[in-house]
Amino acid sequence: MTKRVAILISGGGSNMVALAESMVGDHPARPVLVLSNDPAAGGLEKAAALGIPTASVDHRPFGGDRAAFETALQAALERVRPDILCLAGFMRILTPEFIERWAGRMLNIHPSLLPKYRGLNTHARALAAGDRTHGCTVHEVTAELDGGPILGQAQVRVLPGDTPETLAARVLPMEHRLYPAVLRRFASGDRRPVFLS
Ligand code: GAR
Repeated sequence: MTKRVAILISGGGSNMVALAESMVGDHPARPVLVLSNDPAAGGLEKAAALGIPTASVDHRPFGGDRAAFETALQAALERVRPDILCLAGFMRILTPEFIERWAGRMLNIHPSLLPKYRGLNTHARALAAGDRTHGCTVHEVTAELDGGPILGQAQVRVLPGDTPETLAARVLPMEHRLYPAVLRRFASGDRRPVFLS
């Protein structure tokens, strides 16, 4: 049975586009919703242009009440009955309660070779550490921030003179290859990790 995928974004949504464009033909999944916590996220228009239903649940009116925000998020998701949630540049921290509800069904892409550099500013941190190799990871989301089982990694070489910006610009196209490759495998029930370089 075709899996129903909801993609959660906060910004430009280039990973969302890569995922959505991959779910065609014999792919075991289809996008059913692109949802943002920011109604102005550029990715929403891109999703609409691809013919994917969109929704936004603005986190700001909820102040610090994460549980109330997530109740609204959950309601928007339940309307489309997704089998899989893909976080794609979704920049809100989710509570353990929400994560538990989607356990085993929620993926995230992170711009580092986890377990290195959980959290933010990953490219700058890899440069500051003098790493020769950097990259991105797709992992299952668990209550531990950026800590769930790894489903795929793609490596890029760090070049002399790299800045956080030039490094990010080389990692992003690898994200666009990695996430669709992992989703295809995951949606077919195969959790063996994908490695790209
Ligand atoms: C991507 O680089 C993604 O790995 C990162 O945000 C960017 C979103 O770009 N995610 C995180 O940092 C999550 N902690 P996009 O909106 O163009 O896909």
